Amino acid sequence: MSIRNRNRNKNRTTPQPSAAWRGWLLFGAALIATFLLGLLAASILQRRAESRAVATGKPIAPMETDSSRWAVNWPREYDSYRQTEDSSTKTMYGGSDPRDYLAETPANVILFAGYGFAKEYRQARGHLHAIEDVTRTERVGPTTPATCWTCKGPDVVRLMADLGPEDFYRQTFDSLKGQITHPVGCLDCHDPKTMQLRITRPVIREAFEQQGRDIDKATHQQMRSLVCAQCHVEYYFKGKGDYLTFPWKRGMTPESMEAYYDKRDFSDWTHAISGAPMVKMQHPDYEVYHTGIHAYRDVACADCHMPYKTEGGSKFTDHHVRSPLLNIANSCAVCHRWSEEDIHARVETIQDKVREGRGRAEKVLAKAHFDIAAARQAGAGDDELVEVRRLVRGAQLRLDYVAASNGMGFHSPEECMRILAAAVEMAGRCRVECARILARHGVTEPIPYPDYRTKKTAQALMRAFAEGNPPNLLPAVAGPAQRDTP
Ligand code: HEC
Ligand code: HEC
Ligand code: HEC
Ligand code: HEC
Repeated sequence: MSIRNRNRNKNRTTPQPSAAWRGWLLFGAALIATFLLGLLAASILQRRAESRAVATGKPIAPMETDSSRWAVNWPREYDSYRQTEDSSTKTMYGGSDPRDYLAETPANVILFAGYGFAKEYRQARGHLHAIEDVTRTERVGPTTPATCWTCKGPDVVRLMADLGPEDFYRQTFDSLKGQITHPVGCLDCHDPKTMQLRITRPVIREAFEQQGRDIDKATHQQMRSLVCAQCHVEYYFKGKGDYLTFPWKRGMTPESMEAYYDKRDFSDWTHAISGAPMVKMQHPDYEVYHTGIHAYRDVACADCHMPYKTEGGSKFTDHHVRSPLLNIANSCAVCHRWSEEDIHARVETIQDKVREGRGRAEKVLAKAHFDIAAARQAGAGDDELVEVRRLVRGAQLRLDYVAASNGMGFHSPEECMRILAAAVEMAGRCRVECARILARHGVTEPIPYPDYRTKKTAQALMRAFAEGNPPNLLPAVAGPAQRDTP
């Protein structure tokens, strides 16, 4: 752009005007060049590429749920989208490999004791696997509501248009099995007529309305994140009709979500070890991202996860949505002029630190659940345990806000560390309070914590609690007490 501009100015100056004019012309040209350079910089920085609405070749049906039928017009986007099938990639903390979070961190079995996530908990894979993975997981059973389908693919857009959202959520998961077959695809994010990005899930529209905001007023750059926020967020099923809802009314921090859930007396399950009323955070990716430096600088999810790609001389959006660490040249290096190695190392350094903080919170929280169980065994009644259960619920909600959001804290490291600090502090307070309760009931020696160093031992332990024959957590009165093992 700037080169063309310079040539044009050279042509204009050929008639040899007076010296004063030449000065003014040079000054003007410099102004224009600066302005154009500024524009260029802004467009690079914010990737505010021209609205990329494309005139349709062949018309696509308004409810075309089969992404392969869109390929006639957009073969490049389709081919790159198909690559989300690859499940062989691994990064230090991510990638498309369905790693087993329970085997990796057996403390997770203790934290989610009595809930589906203690049976199976795996890392997410590419969009093309969404249907396959939700139908296969052990967490889905005969009583699961259809609400679980909402973020799995474009058939949901069609069914919601037919049934209305309320009736859609009221179905059971099983009853819609044959009707929802296409994984996350074109219709989830695009209007087939104009190809503009489009909000297709009522839940995010409603969440915006609750905050007094109008999602239709979002900028194009914001839409490049909001299409993702339809699914990559914390949510819950509200009331008897399992109406899909984001707990955003008071804000998107864990504190405001906790206040929201407390006010409604909401819990996902009762903890099998501590008996606390727990909340499982899903994957608050958008909420965490929203507090980070990149959101602050208007960098969108799509800038890193769907960067531009050039093939055969044409530039298009790479629809192979995946870990940006597998594609640093396109995802990061367009803005950051460091070497790929440096970028990679910097991300892992950030992630290592968040992982360390998370590990500490996991440890102290697992102990807190056992401390409450010990207090119960020592004879403490439910009324005595209200406060410690409230603390363990709050601490775990915070830890899980960080742990369940993808990217191991990269999206907003400071916010994640702040939240983990609060989790550790609350779990610590819970344990001090438990020690007091135990002392009131005559127990002053350390608790012999059971072994949960592998997924198998942790799951056996969880079953023992769930079946009502937990191990004895009270120290033998005379003998030397066992120390904290795991
Ligand atoms: C500045 C770039 C950037 C932005 C913006 C960004 N991410 Fe990420 N994202 C990353 C990096 C880096 C990782 C870590 C990948 C890894 O560990 O392999 C990641 C990880 C993820 C993962 C897990 C992928 C995996 O393979 O483990 C998901 C899901 C994700 N981000 C979703 C989002 C969503 C949704 C948004 C917007 C709300 C977003 N990201 C915004 C850079 C970004
Ligand atoms: C309709 C719901 C939906 C939308 C919209 C959506 N996702 Fe996803 N995303 C999912 C589901 C479901 C999975 C997990 C699939 C699995 O594990 O089988 C997933 C997985 C991912 C992963 C992990 C992939 C990997 O290989 O590690 C990334 C990264 C990701 N999404 C980013 C994004 C970004 C960025 C956007 C917006 C441009 C987006 N998603 C929009 C539902 C959605
Ligand atoms: C998870 C959301 C998501 C899905 C699914 C998705 N896209 Fe996109 N698509 C985007 C985003 C984000 C952009 C960038 C749009 C922009 O900046 O205006 C985009 C851009 C495009 C464009 C504009 C040209 C370009 O390449 O930048 C076309 C055409 C397109 N997508 C086609 C498709 C097709 C075909 C499918 C299905 C095979 C599909 N998309 C699936 C999010 C999605
Ligand atoms: C569209 C431009 C853009 C893209 C793409 C982008 N970044 Fe950034 N990044 C920024 C801006 C702007 C800042 C704020 C600091 C600055 O102005 O240099 C930043 C800051 C950072 C920081 C410093 C954070 C801090 O708190 O000090 C890291 C680390 C980083 N980016 C890593 C990445 C990685 C890794 C990717 C690719 C996954 C990426 N960025 C993609 C624009 C971008």
